[in-house]
Amino acid sequence: MSVLARARVQVLAGNVANQIAAGEVVERPASVVKELVENAIDAGARAIRVELEDGGKTLIRVSDDGSGMDRDDAQLALQRHATSKIRTATDLIGVATFGFRGEALPAIASVSRFELETCGEGEEATRLRVTGGKLDAVEDSARQRGTTVTVRGLFYNTPARRKFLRATATETRAAVEAVTVLALTRPDVAFSLTSDGRVLLDCPAASRLIDRAHALWGGELADTLLAVSHRAGPLEVSGLVQRPAQARPAGRKGYVFVRGRPIRDPFILRAAEAGYRSTIAPGDRPSLLVFLDLPGDAVDVNVHPAKLEARFRDKFFVERVVEEAVREALGPLTAATPLSGIGGSGLGAGEFAGGISVPLELFSAQSLGPNPEPRTPPLLQVFDTYILFQTDAGVAIVDQHSAHERVLYEDVMRQLSGDGAPAQRLLLPLTLDFTPAELDAIEAHRELLTRVGYEIEPFSGRSIVVHTAPNPHPRFEAARCLQELVSDLAGGRFGGWQNRLERFAATYACRAAIKAGQTLDVSEMRQLIVRLLTATLPAHDVHGRPSMVQLPKEELERRFGRT
Ligand SMILES: Nc1ncnc2c1ncn2[C@@H]1O[C@H](COP(=O)(O)OP(=O)(O)OP(=O)(O)O)[C@@H](O)[C@H]1O
Ligand SMILES: [Mg+2]
Repeated sequence: MSVLARARVQVLAGNVANQIAAGEVVERPASVVKELVENAIDAGARAIRVELEDGGKTLIRVSDDGSGMDRDDAQLALQRHATSKIRTATDLIGVATFGFRGEALPAIASVSRFELETCGEGEEATRLRVTGGKLDAVEDSARQRGTTVTVRGLFYNTPARRKFLRATATETRAAVEAVTVLALTRPDVAFSLTSDGRVLLDCPAASRLIDRAHALWGGELADTLLAVSHRAGPLEVSGLVQRPAQARPAGRKGYVFVRGRPIRDPFILRAAEAGYRSTIAPGDRPSLLVFLDLPGDAVDVNVHPAKLEARFRDKFFVERVVEEAVREALGPLTAATPLSGIGGSGLGAGEFAGGISVPLELFSAQSLGPNPEPRTPPLLQVFDTYILFQTDAGVAIVDQHSAHERVLYEDVMRQLSGDGAPAQRLLLPLTLDFTPAELDAIEAHRELLTRVGYEIEPFSGRSIVVHTAPNPHPRFEAARCLQELVSDLAGGRFGGWQNRLERFAATYACRAAIKAGQTLDVSEMRQLIVRLLTATLPAHDVHGRPSMVQLPKEELERRFGRT
């Protein structure tokens, strides 16, 4: 027999229910900031101001110039499940507002000293005061159209939760991040955030996402971002992704938005990273702002208490299209690093809008003949390493090794999955010595080596015989390339490449490519440029370094005072 008396089932008093709901909605000051800013955006605000004291622990105030509320609505808004944003369950499909639960305000008001001041167009202004969920006062007020919510003493009545608040700097950082994310969803709305009187964010209304990125992070990051714009069936992918050469192992920004709503989705970010394949060094993480737009019934945004997740009807499709979109953005020559853009005073963010375009036909087949067309742009090799030529939009500078590495990588990837590369039978087979570890690596990659053109046979002891070799360019040194390639494979260099085939192709491309310091004649240069310009990802080598940079004509004009 139980020693416990059976408890009676009772409906919780409203305020207890609110506090429990607050446990899900209000985790820390940043979550209050998020909810209040979302409400301001939903109310059609053009400018939103956030003030924090002590990281939001003492005070959070969010003011907007949105629609405001009349007195009745303001009082209703503090009741649970009171919302102006949906009426029926079907309204949830494709809901366009941030809010739809009618949870946030009552939850926040139940765990703070809460004040709401609001005024609708042409109406009397109202001030409501609520303490720990209990309505204390309904008063006249004198504010203009819009709403100001002030939250003091968050968790004052739930000490266990207050104890979990972190240091002021940590809470401030989280609140700044919450506003940053929302500011990215609406460049057309002005945002500011002050913390203990210091201005931490100041974003004027702008028309483009890139301008908002500038206002939030400055040119140092914003100037490294490329625009993405891609559509596949019902899905539209847009946003900004970082040039591969500027990707770093730490400190990247990664954001995903679905139908204008920020979500956390590591899979989408990973898919976007997959789009960088072979253009970033292993371990580097590019900054990514991925915006997905798709019909409301293809995604459910109501699957997480703080709306931080979304569920797609066809996740694999979405991931595949995101990867495609990023690859497409990195592909064209516009992805080539502008000489002036990085940390400089040059053209900055707008630069990629125009981009660089190369008159490929000028380098085309007939111009490779013995009598080039008169208009073929001259090619100039400098330092036996770089090739310069004129384009429509400026001067392109190609790194001959990186460029050739990119071209070979793409060739080899095709050859490895197709018929293999044409090989040259050596008149005098080569005999080469290797260490035991290197011999193991040769054994492990025998098939791939054959496919790129190296037909190899064990000889005796530590020696092997090479019967055929690839011939990617006239200056190719077959023995040396094989030795370097095998040593890389055995030494685990290029180790970060996940895919064995890609790793082999990248290693081979790096070792087989024309090197810096080799003098090229005009026809070799021309061939290289033609092949580079027809590559899928011409602007970057397999280590993520640029293979080409551009000096825009505008930059020349600016420097010489012609504008
Ligand atoms: N800044 C504001 N300006 C105008 N109306 C507001 C503002 N903030 C809240 N409201 C009104 O109060 C209602 C309740 O807000 P609350 O945030 O609690 O719920 P919600 O936004 O509808 O849903 P959710 O809980 O998902 O955020 C809103 O539906 C809206 O009508
Ligand atoms: Mg809300």
